[in-house]
Amino acid sequence: MTTVALDGQRALDLDAADELPTLRSQFHVPPHGDGEVAYFAGNSLGLQPVALRDRLGQELDDWARLGVEGHGEATRPWVSYHQLLREPAARLVGADPSEVVVMNSLTVNLHLMMVSFYRPTPQRHAIVIEDSAFPSDSYAVRSQAAFHGYDPDTAVIRLRPRDGESSLRSEDVVAFLAAEGSRVALVLLGAVNYYSGEFLDIEPITAAGHAAGAVVGWDLAHAAGNLPLRMHDWGVDWAAWCSYKYLNSGPGSLAGAFVHERHLADRSLPKFAGWWSTDAASRFLMAPTVTPVDTADSWQLSNPPILAMAPVLASLEMFDAVGMDALRAKSIRLTGYLESLLDAIADGRPLEVITPRDPQRRGAQLSVRIHGLDAGAVTARLRHDHGVIADARQPDVVRLAPAPMYCTFHDCWRAATALAKVLDAHG
Ligand SMILES: Cc1ncc(COP(=O)(O)O)c(C=O)c1O
Repeated sequence: MTTVALDGQRALDLDAADELPTLRSQFHVPPHGDGEVAYFAGNSLGLQPVALRDRLGQELDDWARLGVEGHGEATRPWVSYHQLLREPAARLVGADPSEVVVMNSLTVNLHLMMVSFYRPTPQRHAIVIEDSAFPSDSYAVRSQAAFHGYDPDTAVIRLRPRDGESSLRSEDVVAFLAAEGSRVALVLLGAVNYYSGEFLDIEPITAAGHAAGAVVGWDLAHAAGNLPLRMHDWGVDWAAWCSYKYLNSGPGSLAGAFVHERHLADRSLPKFAGWWSTDAASRFLMAPTVTPVDTADSWQLSNPPILAMAPVLASLEMFDAVGMDALRAKSIRLTGYLESLLDAIADGRPLEVITPRDPQRRGAQLSVRIHGLDAGAVTARLRHDHGVIADARQPDVVRLAPAPMYCTFHDCWRAATALAKVLDAHG
């Protein structure tokens, strides 16, 4: 076993020299002792931007000052507020502005998308997900199959990694769809898997789903704000994402949805409707029927919650200011550095990085299997003894996400050093 002698000065030097200086000071980093934690849970809940308090305060002030008249007269008029999010959200996922809408929360959007895009028939009603899909996705697709009268145990096909491997291979998903796709109505996969951190190859999987006659949707919960995405060009039918992870918009914050342009004017798609589904010009005519719009807005139901939208807008402005490509480049540097440190401490210690080693096949997350130890006990020691916040996923995986907006090389050094000490104490 190597002793813990990782070079902390080198980490500080890397921080000082990095071409994208950290934006850490623009976030509230939780305190630890006289300093701050090393925060690796941005794939679960991103940190609070310092500027957010003023942005929320602005809406509260406008509400106090204007009451209902804020709909038209607020600094950012509420009646059209959601339109401010359209272009930055489109840039984030690689879409035309007409293809995106920010609304609801993620699982709600998964369901609304499936109302339109899961159209099962007796011959073709299977839904393909990853065996390690996030439970909410699993529950959602099972409930959709049952809603349409199919047995979820047979209608939902769960794709597993090969024996002895921890991640699905994109080529295996493609091969499955080529072989079995004739019974598949919908493919719904996590673009970045929450457990392994694997980034699936969206374009070929989408093409394979289409070649098989299926609709292909993606859950971007762990991909939005993590990697550059090109939903439109990759031909994805629909997608949904949340904004409380890499997008730093706060606990339970609003989600997004993408619908490909080719579906926007399809009046035959079943949809649930509410007063915000109708054309804005007709909204206050109080008509009994919807006047359809050919944008993703037509999947909206309710009037948008402004206090929940303000954090998303503030966050998207930060992403625009830095640029996703620059963030991704830094993310690759940070994650690669953390990986090299974990490899250095792995000698003689029971840890194994299960995230793909190819930087193109992962985002800002390394999942570390701790053999023979309870991952929850390990993360508790990391937190309390060393001020390193990571999370545990049952039974034995510790997830570390060096989110590039506020994590530093020195944080990576702290995490690896602390993990080695915690494992040595347990050994
Ligand atoms: C991949 C994935 N899907 C769905 C969800 C559920 O999101 P929500 O509770 O916002 O509906 C999460 C939450 O972390 C997730 O990671």
